[in-house]
Amino acid sequence: MPLNFDKLMGDGTGCLGAMMRTARAYLAESSPSVLLQRVGDRIEEMPGGDCPDKRWFQRSYGREVTDAPDDLLVGDSLFYLTEQRRLFLDCTGGHYQMTWGYEHPELTELLLDGIERGIVWDNHSNIPSAPVKRLTEKLVELANPGRDLADLQADPDSLNTVLSGTATGSVACAAAIKMMLMNHQGPGDPVFVVLDGNYHGTDMLAQRLRGMWPEIFCNLAVVAVQPNDVEELEATFREHGENVAGFWAEPIMMNREAIPIEPDYLHLARGLCDNTGALMAIDEIQTGFWFPEVIYCARIGLEPDFLVLGKGMTAGFHPLSALVYKGRLDCLEQYDAISTNGNAALAAYMALGCIELIERHADGIEAAGAAWHDAMAEIADEFADTLVEPRGIAHMSGLKFRERDECLDFHRRALERGLWLRAHAYHEGHSAILTKFALPLDRQVVDFAADALRDLLRGD
Ligand SMILES: Cc1ncc(COP(=O)(O)O)c(C=O)c1O
Repeated sequence: MPLNFDKLMGDGTGCLGAMMRTARAYLAESSPSVLLQRVGDRIEEMPGGDCPDKRWFQRSYGREVTDAPDDLLVGDSLFYLTEQRRLFLDCTGGHYQMTWGYEHPELTELLLDGIERGIVWDNHSNIPSAPVKRLTEKLVELANPGRDLADLQADPDSLNTVLSGTATGSVACAAAIKMMLMNHQGPGDPVFVVLDGNYHGTDMLAQRLRGMWPEIFCNLAVVAVQPNDVEELEATFREHGENVAGFWAEPIMMNREAIPIEPDYLHLARGLCDNTGALMAIDEIQTGFWFPEVIYCARIGLEPDFLVLGKGMTAGFHPLSALVYKGRLDCLEQYDAISTNGNAALAAYMALGCIELIERHADGIEAAGAAWHDAMAEIADEFADTLVEPRGIAHMSGLKFRERDECLDFHRRALERGLWLRAHAYHEGHSAILTKFALPLDRQVVDFAADALRDLLRGD
């Protein structure tokens, strides 16, 4: 007997499968204008049905038993339907990793093409297949725009090496931290200079960079500086000098109210690292694959020592991350920092497709990103009593509220309105909402979303 959806879902009635098919057809067959008009509605003409709940989940992932679970049912481009048949506009690209939204037709076709050609899903990293090898070359090319590949190969001081056997961003960040430690030459305990409010994954050492586990890691120091504070950064490097092992930054702090880091600040940090022998890591888990240049560092002409890539790289097909770094720093052995053995050939093929789409649509991506950020800036001006300023850059733009409670209330009402966006208002002083639209964002959606935010700010 073939494997069967209803049986696998534990659904004797076949309702869930039927509901998903109808929902998927509804999304695929409705035009964006029709869907936009109905964002926030319950689509009553679709059949309802029982869906599994989260009773076996861990508490922090919503282990509440509920009679009517309302999680994601199906998605298409920027839209998704919930299990209770509510239509949402996803303003966050899945949760920052669905570069091309849900079920992009060309990527779906590419996936089927890859399977048909015999690209394996995964295999031992000692015998990587063509897409993995091609992806490493493509990433080196993107990290070094305009440079000749043969020159790069011969230059150990260039970003010419890729650790590709990592599944998640956390593993790639951890690999960079380990290499910083192993390359550290300073006389004293290593010091990491990080931005206050950073997030570089869930590895324990990365968590130490954001303040956790001080009692466990006591032979290294972490100095958190305020983002964009030039004087504090200079004073920190002056104080710790050659003991600084590494500097870490995200170009847009998507885990702290979408604070954009000034390119000049990052270039200054580059210079300070060069003067003291510290290594610079730029975490592009969020910004990578969301700009026309693919890699944000290429956009601002910055050459870090480590470039962390992940999330959007495969457009959400499979967790796959990569660490691009300078060949001279290559000091880890095979099992020191990988997701033991795999390197996800099919996911690498999807990554190549995702990159190709970005390159093909570069102008449209630039225009839509600028239009969205401009809209946020206009809204911040129009509602200056409630809002402090726009935050973020391009598709990753947000709004900083004056009052935390107003931000939380706005977020609750946005969800009721069918706009799935994020709020950072759970820490002292935080009061921002964030978006990270998937790249199919266009003028029609920009105008719709901006007007919907205006209505919410007016209290409509
Ligand atoms: C900036 C940044 N670094 C690292 C990570 C960790 O990536 P992953 O969740 O794939 O382990 C994340 C995840 O959101 C992130 O936003």
